[in-house]
Amino acid sequence: MNTKSRRRPLIAGNWKMNGLSHSLAELALIAKGLDELDDELEALICPPATLIGAASAHVRNTRLIIGAQDCSSDVEGAFTGDVSAAMIADSGARYVILGHSERRQGRGESNIDILQKVERGLSAKIGVIVCVGETEQQMAERRTEQVLRAQLLESVPPDVNCSAVTIAYEPVWAIGTGRVPTPARIADVHASVRETISDRFGQAGEEIRILYGGSVKPENAREISATPNVDGVLVGGASLKARDFLSISEAFAVR
Ligand code: PGA
Repeated sequence: MNTKSRRRPLIAGNWKMNGLSHSLAELALIAKGLDELDDELEALICPPATLIGAASAHVRNTRLIIGAQDCSSDVEGAFTGDVSAAMIADSGARYVILGHSERRQGRGESNIDILQKVERGLSAKIGVIVCVGETEQQMAERRTEQVLRAQLLESVPPDVNCSAVTIAYEPVWAIGTGRVPTPARIADVHASVRETISDRFGQAGEEIRILYGGSVKPENAREISATPNVDGVLVGGASLKARDFLSISEAFAVR
């Protein structure tokens, strides 16, 4: 089946709390490998905030773009330790990941917090990647579609510029575990996310990409890239090694 959509695939890497200045060498390898890929895909690495500035400078004039893993829900002011959307944009970030389960569950962020961060990101003129996903228990209770619909409707404002929004479906039970839903299941869940997006944004929502995330590896990237309704991937562990990230990117380049 030809699953190539009109939407440009996005291969996004989330380094989480990993990476020191010596890790910039890995970014240079990724950038070099991408330049050899003859494809339209967009490739993004989100290092920790401390590396955004140096990373952006390091890959300037290559296809690799740099993003952030989070931003503050406030604009500026007396919020010790927080980093604003304008600050990450100023450091060179072109995207920000928001609502990752390690923040929703691990740091108690609510849909309202995420909605405010989405607004901050869009005001700073960067793309937002909004993560949604069900827990193992919600899946067992067959509530996945309902949970995702609520997360989407409550964390993405109704009046956004759709071209700046990407959704990442990341089942919480698949993150860092090596477990991945079947391709048929990913296709079904993405179709239901697409339906929610169309209900809310109509035709404009067609521009919104839906990524899959959770234990994406070189070994399963080809199968995921061939899955209907998948516009790219959000990769954690396997984005830390240039060889793995490039192999995943290649799977999307040849699909
Ligand atoms: P993983 O993480 O690829 O290591 O499972 C994915 C994510 O947290 O975005």
